[in-house]
Amino acid sequence: MMTRVAVVGATGYAGAELVRILAGHPKVKLAALTSRQHSGKIFSHVYPSMAGIVDMPCEEFSADSLAESVDLIFMALPHKLPMEIVPLLLRKGMRIIDLSADFRFLDVTLYETHYQPHTCPELLKKAVYGLCEVYTEKIRSADIIGNPGCYPTCTLLPLIPLIKAGLIETERIIVDSKSGVSGAGRSPSLTTHHCEVNESFKAYKVADHRHNPEMDEVLSREADKPMHVTFVPHLVPMTRGMETTIYATLKNQAGKEQIRNCIREFYKGRPFVRLRSEGIAADTLHVKGTNFCDIGIHVDQAAKMVVLTSAIDNLVKGAAGQAVQNMNIMLGLDETLGLMAVPYPL
Ligand SMILES: NC(=O)c1ccc[n+]([C@@H]2O[C@H](COP(=O)([O-])OP(=O)(O)OC[C@H]3O[C@@H](n4cnc5c(N)ncnc54)[C@H](OP(=O)(O)O)[C@@H]3O)[C@@H](O)[C@H]2O)c1
Repeated sequence: MMTRVAVVGATGYAGAELVRILAGHPKVKLAALTSRQHSGKIFSHVYPSMAGIVDMPCEEFSADSLAESVDLIFMALPHKLPMEIVPLLLRKGMRIIDLSADFRFLDVTLYETHYQPHTCPELLKKAVYGLCEVYTEKIRSADIIGNPGCYPTCTLLPLIPLIKAGLIETERIIVDSKSGVSGAGRSPSLTTHHCEVNESFKAYKVADHRHNPEMDEVLSREADKPMHVTFVPHLVPMTRGMETTIYATLKNQAGKEQIRNCIREFYKGRPFVRLRSEGIAADTLHVKGTNFCDIGIHVDQAAKMVVLTSAIDNLVKGAAGQAVQNMNIMLGLDETLGLMAVPYPL
């Protein structure tokens, strides 16, 4: 049986990536695409690469009409908007995967400190943080998923196994990330203007980014004690891709083999997390357009430090791909369905 799905905010970058992946999914029927600016327009007229593939029209959002035509909704709207409509959609019996930050936090105070007042805080306990490889069991039965942010996905996947195994210190972890410009969305702005980013490389929101409390909350939960990482994001002049380099102090005389075995065992049987060969760092080129998270492991024994590198495509594993992986798990499907397109060699 085909599951009927809608993408709300289908013409934004994350929404369009969802449409791309869902259009090739064997168990899904794209039943509705919503957009305010492009309502009435054919999707492939907004994104011409979709000509002959997704030629259905975009429509205005209507909870009533979605309730009649779809079973599951992907929300790809800016934060603040989803929390205003999700309660209504849940009451109408739909399952929801939200790509914004509105349902990622357990602690409402943390959300409200970094975003704005939450209009349905009672739903935060019901929502499941959709980091697929870590919270698989909870995801299966969830009705509302808070799909993780791109930076947290790229950071948490390499760190969580080592934190849980007690192989690294929980203090003084440094997370140094670089993102392609599509991470900022489709709306034009001065900071993402070609002339401002082309041939440029800069840090922004140093130790002040909204994804920092999201990472801290999840890491604290996994470590079973309060944790804070120093997070520095950078913007790089490429369209998609994200690389994160993490510096942490080794504990209990852990060595390179122990670190590798720990991460390898944690993700055994999970096809989207790939360990790079010894001495090789993760590279955004090798995950472009895919749902993979590649992890490289390096140990500086003299400094008693582990250096982890991880690479994802911010629009796929960092957004739409992980959202579809969440859907597959929720529907009891193979988690790779629709997500195993063979990567470009370069
Ligand atoms: N880009 C990424 O790499 C990435 C990664 C992880 C998570 N996310 C999350 O995914 C969500 C969408 O991000 P995005 O990058 O796709 O952003 P985007 O390109 O700006 O798209 C957002 C879409 O939401 C629609 N929208 C509806 N009401 C809106 C309103 N009041 N104000 C602004 N837009 C409105 C817009 O389409 P209409 O105006 O036509 O309705 C717009 O196309 C965000 O919550 C973001 O945090 C994005």
